[in-house]
Amino acid sequence: MTRTPVLIDCDPGIDDALAIALAAASPELELAGITTVAGNVGLAQTTANALALREFLDLGDVPVVPGCGRPLLRDRIHAVRVHGASGLGDAVLPAPLRAATEGHAAEFIVSTLRERPGEIVLVAVGPLTNVALAVRLEPRIVEWARQLVIMGGSSTRGNHNPAAEFNILTDPEAAAIVFTAGWTVRMVGLDVTLTARVTPQVLDRMRVLGRLSDLLVPCCEYYGAVAAEGGPALHDTCAVASVLEPSLLTWEPARVEVETFGRYTAGMTVTDFRAPRPNAEVATSMDVRRFWEIVLGAYSRLGSRLG
Ligand code: BDR
Ligand code: CA
Repeated sequence: MTRTPVLIDCDPGIDDALAIALAAASPELELAGITTVAGNVGLAQTTANALALREFLDLGDVPVVPGCGRPLLRDRIHAVRVHGASGLGDAVLPAPLRAATEGHAAEFIVSTLRERPGEIVLVAVGPLTNVALAVRLEPRIVEWARQLVIMGGSSTRGNHNPAAEFNILTDPEAAAIVFTAGWTVRMVGLDVTLTARVTPQVLDRMRVLGRLSDLLVPCCEYYGAVAAEGGPALHDTCAVASVLEPSLLTWEPARVEVETFGRYTAGMTVTDFRAPRPNAEVATSMDVRRFWEIVLGAYSRLGSRLG
């Protein structure tokens, strides 16, 4: 089987953790690295969580490289209310024994894509600060990446406020750089991720996965306690699932511009499906039943492996 190499830029984060778990559980994917950014919680904590996840999920020596501790221009916002002070809700993972790789995430993204041009899918599921910096450091990464998939934005609504989704709102200037860099961004936004709800039935299936349940269940229970009706949405997991199985989603070409000035609308992803020069493929619907089949099937295999 040819495995698709993926590099995950993230801010774990409950749904980030479950996205990394999906990558770890999928033999179709090769995890080429994890880079961290400040977002849901601060950089020290997102990095500590990524390191703990690497060992808990038995990811071997996959590099974990920290990046930006704040947005390019703005003050930091966070989502502690949603993800808890640790970023992983009520999950308590063993303290990691191994440290992060030296260097900066943006440089790691550049060097990793340069080494394997046309091969690696960059999956960004946090604020886009590291990716924007990488584009500025080396604009040719837009040619070297096989694809950029982001969890962020929406063509219809926000979540942190009525206009903006959290990852884009956190660093709109970075998102604007990324969307106008010259690649076609695969945008997995709230239009689809809000359909990936952890229902009580899904949670029951997560309870019987041995040690893996110790991560999944307290994460989702915590997330669920603060989520709106219908159960918590596993936003970031949708982005990794879209790499595994692109046909899970319907993709529509569009021009996405990020609002960087609006008093009430900063961070809005203004999506024009009729624009002559699209810069994105926007996911507009998802087969939710198949999504859960894939995700729970993968977790079940990983659960058996981890014991
Ligand atoms: C996004 O914001 C974060 O809180 C989640 O981890 C996800 O990446 C959803 O808006
Ligand atoms: Ca995230």
